[in-house]
Amino acid sequence: MEENKKKRIFSGIQPTNTPHLGNYFGALRNWYKLQDDYECVYSIVDLHSITVRQDPAKLRRQISESYALLLAMGIDPEKSVVFVQGHNPAHAQLSWILSCYTQFGELSRMTQFKDKSQKHADNINAGLFTYPVLMAADILLYQAELVPVGIDQKQHVELTRNIAERFNNLYGETFTMPEPYIVKSVQKIMSLADPNKKMSKSDENPNAIVTVLDDRDTIMRKFKRAVTDSGCEVKRGEGKEGIENLMSIYGAVTEKTFDEIEKEFEGKGYGDFKTAVGEAVADSLLPMQENFKRIISDKGYLEKCMKDGAGKAFAASRKTLQKVNRKVGFINL
Ligand code: TRP
Repeated sequence: MEENKKKRIFSGIQPTNTPHLGNYFGALRNWYKLQDDYECVYSIVDLHSITVRQDPAKLRRQISESYALLLAMGIDPEKSVVFVQGHNPAHAQLSWILSCYTQFGELSRMTQFKDKSQKHADNINAGLFTYPVLMAADILLYQAELVPVGIDQKQHVELTRNIAERFNNLYGETFTMPEPYIVKSVQKIMSLADPNKKMSKSDENPNAIVTVLDDRDTIMRKFKRAVTDSGCEVKRGEGKEGIENLMSIYGAVTEKTFDEIEKEFEGKGYGDFKTAVGEAVADSLLPMQENFKRIISDKGYLEKCMKDGAGKAFAASRKTLQKVNRKVGFINL
């Protein structure tokens, strides 16, 4: 019987900006693959996103689009729980409680807080500071054992473990200890405009990133303009970071190794290679883009999935919240 029990996974994605190739190959594609082996709970974390200023109309649209995109990528709302964080009030409730078990000093040490408060120096709000507590609540509410995240979120998962451990020590076994699950299989995907910088959602230069919803012409244009070097061989090497980045992208799409790619493009120039990368990327994104168009235009379906997802998320988190309430001395009605 024990063997049948699948491990629970929780992960979240902010609904700000359309995911790019780095997000997709580094994380989202994996979310899809995990569904068979784990019991997955995936959330569009709208509450987290307002820690920096958002345009309300744009945010509303992005929440729906992000949700539709997860479905379009093959995340199955029957198999996994897919929901919008704000649709389950338990997140905000548990977050408040956990904030009383988190120290000011711990939150001050979070590198993301330090980075973001530098970047948004005019709006260092309390939510930005307590962001990791809400993330801890997300994870602990569902008793998740594994948390697929990028390396930049590892510190937050470690804080989550510290909070869980502290609470468990005070009140007895309450929370499952989560582990970060870091996808290492793919190379980091770099900016197309500056191959020494990570491809980043917040890049000002639209040519630096390819989003998963870019159309074929846009994708081809961006790859043609990708910054490379003055050489002509499709090979890795000193000063060839641009070509190496295109090779990683091509490899991520085709599952070919660097050696295989070097062989394939022996004697061919950068132009041919860039065209091949663009086409491979466009081809691989196409089925998802078609699913996306269909889902995003079916408002009724989308709303139904969101409602069902919220209901399942609430049901899955209820027990934990009641247990916590009881332990700290609240009255459950
Ligand atoms: N902070 C994560 C990010 O920006 C998103 C997130 C919120 C998350 N809650 C989570 C990720 C819980 C994993 C688990 O990428």
